[in-house]
Amino acid sequence: MLSAVRAFAISRPALGATATAAVAAVASRLAAKPRTLAAFGKDSRLYHKPARSSTFKKLGKDDVRHFERILPAETILATPAVGGSADPIELEGFNADWLNKYRGSSQLVLRPKTTKEVSDILKYCNDQGIAVVPQGGNTGLVGGSVPVHDEVVLSLRNMNKIRSYDELSGILVCDAGCVLEELGNYVGERDHIMPLDLGAKGSCHIGGNVATNAGGIRFLRYGTLHGSVLGLEVVLPDGTILDNMSTLRKDNTGYDLKQLFIGSEGSLGVITGVSIATPRKPSSVNVAVLGVPSYENVQQAFKLARRRCGEILSAYEFWDANCMGAVLKHQELKNPLSSDYPFYVLIETSGSNKDHDDEKMGALLEELMEQGIVEDGALAQDDSQISRMWAMREGIPESLGKTGPTYKYDVSIPIPVLYDIVGDIAGRLETAKLYTPGEPGNPVRLVCGYGHIGDGNLHLNVVAEKFEDRITNIFEPYVYEWVSSHRGSISAEHGVGLMKRDYLGYSKSPEMISYMKRIKDLFDPKGILNPYKVV
Ligand code: FAD
Ligand code: MLT
Ligand code: ZN
Repeated sequence: MLSAVRAFAISRPALGATATAAVAAVASRLAAKPRTLAAFGKDSRLYHKPARSSTFKKLGKDDVRHFERILPAETILATPAVGGSADPIELEGFNADWLNKYRGSSQLVLRPKTTKEVSDILKYCNDQGIAVVPQGGNTGLVGGSVPVHDEVVLSLRNMNKIRSYDELSGILVCDAGCVLEELGNYVGERDHIMPLDLGAKGSCHIGGNVATNAGGIRFLRYGTLHGSVLGLEVVLPDGTILDNMSTLRKDNTGYDLKQLFIGSEGSLGVITGVSIATPRKPSSVNVAVLGVPSYENVQQAFKLARRRCGEILSAYEFWDANCMGAVLKHQELKNPLSSDYPFYVLIETSGSNKDHDDEKMGALLEELMEQGIVEDGALAQDDSQISRMWAMREGIPESLGKTGPTYKYDVSIPIPVLYDIVGDIAGRLETAKLYTPGEPGNPVRLVCGYGHIGDGNLHLNVVAEKFEDRITNIFEPYVYEWVSSHRGSISAEHGVGLMKRDYLGYSKSPEMISYMKRIKDLFDPKGILNPYKVV
């Protein structure tokens, strides 16, 4: 069996310089990403921008004076327009999203350090009718984390303390503004891992993860945050602190209110504390990247991987040749395979018995090759190669962003038809003479697909020269109609935000939307929290 492992491993060129450097580079670029208005030039635009609601008070100097009385001076960023002294450029990073697609014009950013301060801020805003947008690491991809107009930005970044960690149960209790990667390092030193991981880990906050119910690359093994989050501390729009920081795994005392806030995208309350179960770090991890000739074979390989490695299979990700091209161009990584393929798959197994796991992975790879399901593969030989293989997958969003302004669709569709939408959209763009695959100089530069295929989740991306209506109109609402016709979800993991709020009806019935609105009214009767988004 081991010979198969070697067959995969030998004579494959190394992926790149050093794994940790590559991963750190992605993380630090994320963390340090300058959000200048010039990033994608003046063509960037905020579309579907609803009109400002006249029910919200326009912020005045008196309001800022009030915040100065309840918060430390260094936690307030106010521009001269509202009586402060901050250069408006300092607020740009809070006003523009990661994709540089959505941009607001907030003149005030508040960065409280305590739950009490969050409560005082919200109480005042609610009384005065001032709109507020909660913001974590601002890595969201649906325009939910930035103001639409002049909402006050309530940034959680100063709430970044670990409150407690129980090594016996693996239960972590922390502030909402803790950065996911830092939490991963903390529990990693104690032989545990976070139950979720995503490419934005160097910047995103655990509170933002909970607010978006983020999925990511560990979902296949550890499931949804609805399962691993045990408790939340949430401040409601009127300032009420809902302390539900349970560390219990089992608690059936009535309605489980915390579930409402998981995935509510800052529309019901501000999450200030999180209690979360962290799994033991697996002692044996194997990662392989495979070259696959067709999407049909990507599915066959998944079927076989589940059959042969079911209990240790921890990730099954895929990407197409266009994604690979962008990654190899923009990351310091080399293709671990000896030639190019239409599709690539990353398989990870995680377990506790190295010999057993090596044997299982080896047997799987051997069978995949023998049956001609995959044409080539490379099995990582050490942690450094594992990191580089993951950096390749996780580097896709950033690489596409460097290729040009990127339209992102994040859908759940039954796996057999998952990739059809990519070809369909490329064909529509070609017919409209907006795209010629492989040819430069067109309004659309790239159409590609990747994602968490093990979860039935495709990321369809269209990279353009600029965001413009004639391109958008090709796939909106077409993509949503397509997904709806397959009983899929128009948002598998990124959320609704501003981008999809007008399209919710493609995934939810009128009755469900009506109940969502009633829940919003119950928690936020004045609608001050993250207005214009979600519902
Ligand atoms: P933000 O972007 O700041 O906010 C997101 C939403 O949550 C907003 O609506 C905001 O109002 C709300 N919010 C934030 N903090 C709070 C809080 N404390 N209380 C209440 N509401 C709050 N997503 C995935 O699901 N899976 C992935 O694999 C994945 N990979 C990514 C890779 C890259 C490179 C990037 C840029 C993004 C990726 N994302 C992914 C999207 C994004 O990282 C996640 O949605 C993440 O959970 C957002 O966290 P954040 O702290 O940046 O939140
Ligand atoms: C991913 O899986 O890489 C993320 O969800 C980000 C993206 O869709 O680009
Ligand atoms: Zn994803």
